[in-house]
Amino acid sequence: MSKEDKSSQDLEGAAAADPTTTSGAAAPSKKKKVMTRLAILEDRRLLEIVRTLQQNIFPVKYSDTFYENLFQQPHRMNHLAYFNDVLVGIVCVRLELASSAPGTPMTQTYSAGMTEPIRAYIMTLGTLKPYRRLGIASQLLDAAMNKLKTFVAENKLVLTEVALHVQVSNDEALSLYKKKQFIVGEVHVGYYKQLNPSDAHLLTKKI
Ligand SMILES: CC(C)(COP(=O)(O)OP(=O)(O)OC[C@H]1O[C@@H](n2cnc3c(N)ncnc32)[C@H](O)[C@@H]1OP(=O)(O)O)[C@@H](O)C(=O)NCCC(=O)NCCS
Repeated sequence: MSKEDKSSQDLEGAAAADPTTTSGAAAPSKKKKVMTRLAILEDRRLLEIVRTLQQNIFPVKYSDTFYENLFQQPHRMNHLAYFNDVLVGIVCVRLELASSAPGTPMTQTYSAGMTEPIRAYIMTLGTLKPYRRLGIASQLLDAAMNKLKTFVAENKLVLTEVALHVQVSNDEALSLYKKKQFIVGEVHVGYYKQLNPSDAHLLTKKI
């Protein structure tokens, strides 16, 4: 989870405001893997619903620039997950220069054939609370990584790694990423200025 935080929110409170409860769609009653419909995030008209979804999942508040940038990415890695046509999950990824510290947005735009090595940085990956442990985040991550491979191959880019930060107390996320062969690395002290605990692990997966 990246740290574009302006204010923090209570995760429990966010779950109570779950938009799925007003839509009439029932949360899954059985803990079983489901076939979730995934869609590439590219329609700018979804900006506000995506903002609401993220506010209900993450304890970090993301800026207007964050949301605007989501719709200007040619890599098509960002995906939404729907369960019974209810929006329940999201993954957002950006490309960065591998020479910069993980979590540093690229100021230049990348172009086909660019020789400078890049990394993919997972900014957000999340599922609304009632829909967790159904394999939805795993499917979102797989979809983003597949698009990443295609984009890198088509544009002849040099990709070195996939990276992200996870709050040290976030056992669910650490468990998910370890299962996906990410290495839990160094602790970045005070990475999330408005969260408690504020420290984050840097997770990486070499490509
Ligand atoms: C972490 C998170 C994204 C997982 O989403 P999810 O849709 O429940 O994930 P999945 O169902 O694909 O779980 C995949 C694996 O992760 C691990 N995992 C997920 N939740 C877990 C939990 N509560 N306890 C232990 N392991 C867990 C398991 O290994 C699981 O595989 P299994 O169910 O076969 O055992 C979700 O809890 C979430 O949205 N948290 C808030 C946002 C966040 O912290 N995002 C991560 C940082 S970007």
